Amino acid sequence: MKIIELARNFDALQIDVRDYTFEEGLIHGLIGPNGCGKTTLGKLIMGTLAAQSRKIDFNGLDERDLTMVSQNPYMLHDSVYQNLVFPLKIRGIVPDQEEVERLLRLCGLQDKKKENARSLSMGQKQKLSIARAFIFKPKLIIMDENLSNLDPDSVELFEAEILRMQKETPATWIIISHQIAHIRRLCDKIHFMAKGRIQVSGSLEKVFGEQEVPELRRYIARETLRF
Ligand SMILES: Nc1ncnc2c1ncn2[C@@H]1O[C@H](COP(=O)(O)OP(=O)(O)O)[C@@H](O)[C@H]1O
Ligand SMILES: [Mg+2]
Repeated sequence: MKIIELARNFDALQIDVRDYTFEEGLIHGLIGPNGCGKTTLGKLIMGTLAAQSRKIDFNGLDERDLTMVSQNPYMLHDSVYQNLVFPLKIRGIVPDQEEVERLLRLCGLQDKKKENARSLSMGQKQKLSIARAFIFKPKLIIMDENLSNLDPDSVELFEAEILRMQKETPATWIIISHQIAHIRRLCDKIHFMAKGRIQVSGSLEKVFGEQEVPELRRYIARETLRF
């Protein structure tokens, strides 16, 4: 996916990304301080938030191939099962029941198929919203800090699932996360964002070794202190 230009101005923040490629078939990690524009950039890429200018070359993908898993998952007023299969329904695809069961187990929701999705705990909703994105095998998937709030067992399961999916049918992933540990385990390439722009990108080693960008030095000093 190549962003030719993508811009949106708010009073406090100007998002501006141009001539920027997220190579296809890689798991990208997008990091940066709170409020630097990661979520907004994701929404602008998806087209769910209007941009002042938006030229993106998706290399043949259309909007049905894209998805973003939001930080605050939206659950339909319906059962766990109906929420999970919703993306298939709107694409006219008949759910493969074995795959549905497998994803329900991944979420620990195999016994809650008929429950109203809105009655689930926050963590369960998070997991269901991730599985709901995975079920239609998107070609471009943005995950907005969805792993950070899961319990350690679930984190491990979902990370393994991401790597399994990537092996089976490679997609382009943009994983927004503050947890360097996730990024290290999952991502092929890191992008550091500050003040609405992507400032540095490359391997984890390269980005973490970058000395020239003060925001990045500050970010790394703080984030690595947490371990
Ligand atoms: N609808 C909006 N109206 C005004 N400002 C906005 C809007 N959406 C985002 N912003 C600006 O973007 C900033 C947050 O960006 P966000 O993408 O949520 O950051 P991050 O995900 O990196 O923490 C806000 O602090 C605000 O300045
Ligand atoms: Mg955010």
